[in-house]
Amino acid sequence: MLRLLSALMLVALASGCGQPAFSPSSRVVNGEDAVPYSWPWQVSLQYEKGGSFHHTCGGTLIAPDWVMTAGHCISSSLTYQVVLGEYDRGVEEGPEQVIPVNPDGLFVHPKWNANCVSCGNDIALVKLSRSAQLGDKVQLACLPPAGDILPNGDPCYISGWGRLYTNGPLPDKLQQALLPVVDYEHCSKWDWWGFSVKRTMVCAGGDKQSGCNGDSGGPLNCPTENGTWQVHGVTSFVSGLGCNTLKKPTVFTRVSAFNDWIEETIANN
Ligand SMILES: *[C@@H]1O[C@H](CO)[C@@H](O)[C@H](O)[C@H]1NC(C)=O
Repeated sequence: MLRLLSALMLVALASGCGQPAFSPSSRVVNGEDAVPYSWPWQVSLQYEKGGSFHHTCGGTLIAPDWVMTAGHCISSSLTYQVVLGEYDRGVEEGPEQVIPVNPDGLFVHPKWNANCVSCGNDIALVKLSRSAQLGDKVQLACLPPAGDILPNGDPCYISGWGRLYTNGPLPDKLQQALLPVVDYEHCSKWDWWGFSVKRTMVCAGGDKQSGCNGDSGGPLNCPTENGTWQVHGVTSFVSGLGCNTLKKPTVFTRVSAFNDWIEETIANN
């Protein structure tokens, strides 16, 4: 039996993406410590300042040497590294992989405009200077097929090392929160996000049940019918009024609007 189990697990790992070896918990709360390594595609994007590296954004491992993050996370004048297999940022736990990023490894979407976050295209790809070693604690995310739109209320999770509450401290342990999808029809109502939300975005959360402890650039993780996960969003913006503002869901770049750009960028670099 044990042998069969481990054989099954190897098959699951070999088949590629979206199947954490450590299952995420699915409690409905405002934001909580994630189960360690249950979002094995979650990365910490860090920039160098004064000789040390500082966490700035989340990101998603989509190929052994490619990370997807937000356009607003990248500044071409900075030096970056990516940490994979991270859980508690305050402790060296063993599974961490620290991989430098070369200056020519930063690819921000050509239509991203830092002066107009609500215009969309807040997505970037980061090429790692070497491939990650995949295993039970570092795994690739699955992306949805092009054009895939989730229904209102779909139970997705945001994950990240972002603040626990507006202006709160940065947590050491990876956080997660249930953020049900708010479809475009609801999210674009005048008293929700109105014209600030575009069809190339995904809204999620925006009521009392949702937290906002995620982090820019990080994933919106959504379940599929067969128990695997797909990353449908890249965390883009929240309301200036505070993370948990009613009728102001967290807004993500919709990954399924950018499959072509992602595939082309990876193929050409
Ligand atoms: C699970 O479902 C997703 C989305 O429908 C599909 O892409 C994937 O291949 C399926 N995986 C398995 C292991 O059945």
